[in-house]
Amino acid sequence: MAATEEVEEPRYRRLASDLEKSIEDGVFRPGEKIPSVRATSRSHRVSVSTVLAAYALLEDKGCIEGKRRSGYFVKVPKERGPAPTITRHRAKPVEVNTSSIHDAVMRAVSDPDVVPFGAAIPGPEMLPFRKLTTYLNSRAREMGGAAFTYSTAPGALELRVQIAKRCQVEGTSLSPEDIVCTLGASEALVLALNSVADAGDLIAVESPTYFGVLNLIRRMGYRAIEVSTHPQTGLDLNSLQEVLDQHEVAAVFVQPNFQNPMGGLMPVERKEAMVKLCTERGVPIIEDEIFGDLNHDGTRPPSLKAFDREGMVIQCGGYSKTLSPGMRVGWMAPGRYLGQVMSLKNSLSPSNETLSELAIADFLRSGGVDRHLRSVRSTYFKQMHLMRNVIFDCFPEGTTVTEPKGGFLLWIELPEGADTEKLAVAAFREKISIVPGSIFSASCRFQNCLRLNCGYEWNDRLENALRKLGRLACRQLE
Ligand SMILES: Cc1ncc(COP(=O)(O)O)c(C=O)c1O
Repeated sequence: MAATEEVEEPRYRRLASDLEKSIEDGVFRPGEKIPSVRATSRSHRVSVSTVLAAYALLEDKGCIEGKRRSGYFVKVPKERGPAPTITRHRAKPVEVNTSSIHDAVMRAVSDPDVVPFGAAIPGPEMLPFRKLTTYLNSRAREMGGAAFTYSTAPGALELRVQIAKRCQVEGTSLSPEDIVCTLGASEALVLALNSVADAGDLIAVESPTYFGVLNLIRRMGYRAIEVSTHPQTGLDLNSLQEVLDQHEVAAVFVQPNFQNPMGGLMPVERKEAMVKLCTERGVPIIEDEIFGDLNHDGTRPPSLKAFDREGMVIQCGGYSKTLSPGMRVGWMAPGRYLGQVMSLKNSLSPSNETLSELAIADFLRSGGVDRHLRSVRSTYFKQMHLMRNVIFDCFPEGTTVTEPKGGFLLWIELPEGADTEKLAVAAFREKISIVPGSIFSASCRFQNCLRLNCGYEWNDRLENALRKLGRLACRQLE
């Protein structure tokens, strides 16, 4: 045998490592069927026995499992406990409590020495910065000074056209005139709340919910009422109905697609039923859709706006989680509240990010955004599963973790008795940022929960930090 043949990796091993890589990259997901032995033999032009040997090797490694008469499937990672489940409570209006931890989490964002499991941010390596730079440069060259002047509400027509087109594809009929561009989704939320509520009014929110909105509710003098929310399927409609029966609610704030912090996805029928319920009661819905484009597989889920016939849904979106948190480009479709939104926008912040809006419009028009999304979706899926595996490996017995179908956030429930505010302080000392569960609740519920950001490229530094966090959690419960 020639020397080169002696060292060459056997074919079945090469095939096994190719397949293993596809599984790691999220091409084949946990629980998904992989191509049959015959199909792989045909597609890779190798013998059936080579494929069988490769599959046997992957079975030994615990990557796949064979099921009699059904074929081979990607093994679902072993979980120690069930996923977190809904926690019901008696809903009552409260003044929102805010925590100083929020400021610490935000400060940590710009400290490169802190491990970024805190704020919900995609890592810089996940951003399509080269493409964005190209579009920014070419617009600036083309337009000269005009690219750097004020642009008034409702924002660049080119961007609104692109947003309306995407909404059509997703099943929402909007025209560019229905859309207002904003300075990030945060401004859209301020405008939405201000358009429908006065100081002292009650806003119904998911429990837990995005802490940024709880802060706004507090700062703007509203009160919150928390509605039970399921980690997988989102806001519970029966609980919402009870709240609407018993209280005068000025608006419902909801994230139906890949909710922050739990990642839940509301089933389509429930979306339709929720819009119907709120429309009948005359209660506007503020829909935050900022994670909606980050579905890990299948088609993008529809928004609540797709079911809105009466203009009662104020849809808010933006590009901070997908293209660039720094470019501050958000948007909203305010429905029947368009007039109020425009007049508020004109007084609060009349100009938008002209150049950024145009660059994003060009990027959307080119089809490049869809290519980018395809790539980051599978990366987030992969990172989340790697992080879940580490958590199951080294967090306290009895810990549960969500398995979201989109976005890049994990919600972790530690056993009763854990105090994640204390854990966050201990983690900050070790230069690890996390967000304790209590700040996602107006009444400081979820003391034993925490949210982890999976938006940064997975590496040894992150893995070591996550293991250290697990050890800190175990120590707290000893
Ligand atoms: C659910 C949700 N909505 C809105 C925002 C604010 O987005 P932006 O940075 O575009 O203002 C965030 C940011 O974390 C978020 O998580």
